[in-house]
Amino acid sequence: MAGVRGKKVLLGITGGVAAYKSAVLTRLLVKSGAEVQVVMTAAAAEFITPTTLQALSGRLVRQSLFDPAHEAAMGHIELARWADLILVAPATADFLARMAAGMADDLLATLCLATSVPIAVAPAMNQGMWSNPATEDNLRRLATRGVLVWGPDSGLQACGEQGPGRLLEPERLHQLVNDFFVGGDLAGVRVVLTAGPTREPIDPVRYLTNRSSGKMGFALAAAFANRGADVVLVTGPVALATPNGVERVDVETAREMDEAVMGALAGCSIFVGCAAVADYRPAVAAGQKIKKLEEHRTLELVRNPDILARVAAQPSPPFTVGFAAETQSVAEYAEQKRRAKGVDIIAANLVAGEEGGFERDQNALTVLWEGGMRELPLADKGQLARELVTLIVNEYGKRYPTEDPR
Ligand code: C5P
Repeated sequence: MAGVRGKKVLLGITGGVAAYKSAVLTRLLVKSGAEVQVVMTAAAAEFITPTTLQALSGRLVRQSLFDPAHEAAMGHIELARWADLILVAPATADFLARMAAGMADDLLATLCLATSVPIAVAPAMNQGMWSNPATEDNLRRLATRGVLVWGPDSGLQACGEQGPGRLLEPERLHQLVNDFFVGGDLAGVRVVLTAGPTREPIDPVRYLTNRSSGKMGFALAAAFANRGADVVLVTGPVALATPNGVERVDVETAREMDEAVMGALAGCSIFVGCAAVADYRPAVAAGQKIKKLEEHRTLELVRNPDILARVAAQPSPPFTVGFAAETQSVAEYAEQKRRAKGVDIIAANLVAGEEGGFERDQNALTVLWEGGMRELPLADKGQLARELVTLIVNEYGKRYPTEDPR
């Protein structure tokens, strides 16, 4: 975790059972060379002792705004400037609410309000509290102010309930802190992505399309751009803002998408096909609106080009990544698809049932490559995208060691 070395992390701990995981996170960060200053709320000290965190971080734990000895050594405003990153883990529903409201009623909240350094929060709470519209609102407000939201995980909770709200594991938080700091390592790497659905015209007012929202492709484009890559995003019609630093090409049909992709491939190192390209289009798009005259009508469809397969079949193809939406036997079908299309990595998701990826803000992926496989559990698409990008860059780096962007 070289990205963490020498970095100053202010680790805020708030009052939840998951506070014990912050001890492990402190250890991991310190071991990989970070300086960690722990700030605990009063409630956090009910769950884990400051002495433990002090021993692990090697620094006095800060707890109060009104401690003259500590304030004399490093005042709270100085502390707010000291960090390269403030990470609040676990972040309780109460703390997120206080932060969203801009309160400064304890040391940690004051630091979050006073600081201009990036803030990440790792929520941890009962699933009911997590799903409450009040918490959703608070998180949305924080996210629009640029606060990074890491997690939560889903699963069995300390209270015995099942659902979203578990603090991410310390190893995963450690990885996310590292990814945050390695931003910029893809400078000069050109990445082309497709996203969203395509629209295949039937006549001037009607078309065939699908439910893709484009969110995963846009999140991936943002994650690549945040690491400094030159990103071209070829997208079908979606209602999403262009991520910072991304060159966007808007298209409608599969054939337009194919043409835009082929035109953007020169110098491309990594291609990610995330679009839900319509497999078929009407054989003819009527020039005028079709009238409802006959009782039965047949629409003749013809195959669209498979953009991903065509990119992978180029004479010197970029490192290619595809997606596979499956309703059963995900890993097996996805691996067949990976081989059939000749792509390097395939990221598969189950689209049946509750956790299906289409139109949702969260997704879970099974990622497969030659001789390897990794499960990325259900997470916010932004976070999942950052993890997938790290994985893609690792495999890409192994394939082209001389061009290793790390
Ligand atoms: O064959 P299937 O549609 O399941 O494959 C999905 C993958 O192939 C996705 O990565 C998608 O972007 C890509 N694809 C494509 N062009 C098509 C169909 C799929 O690039 N015509």
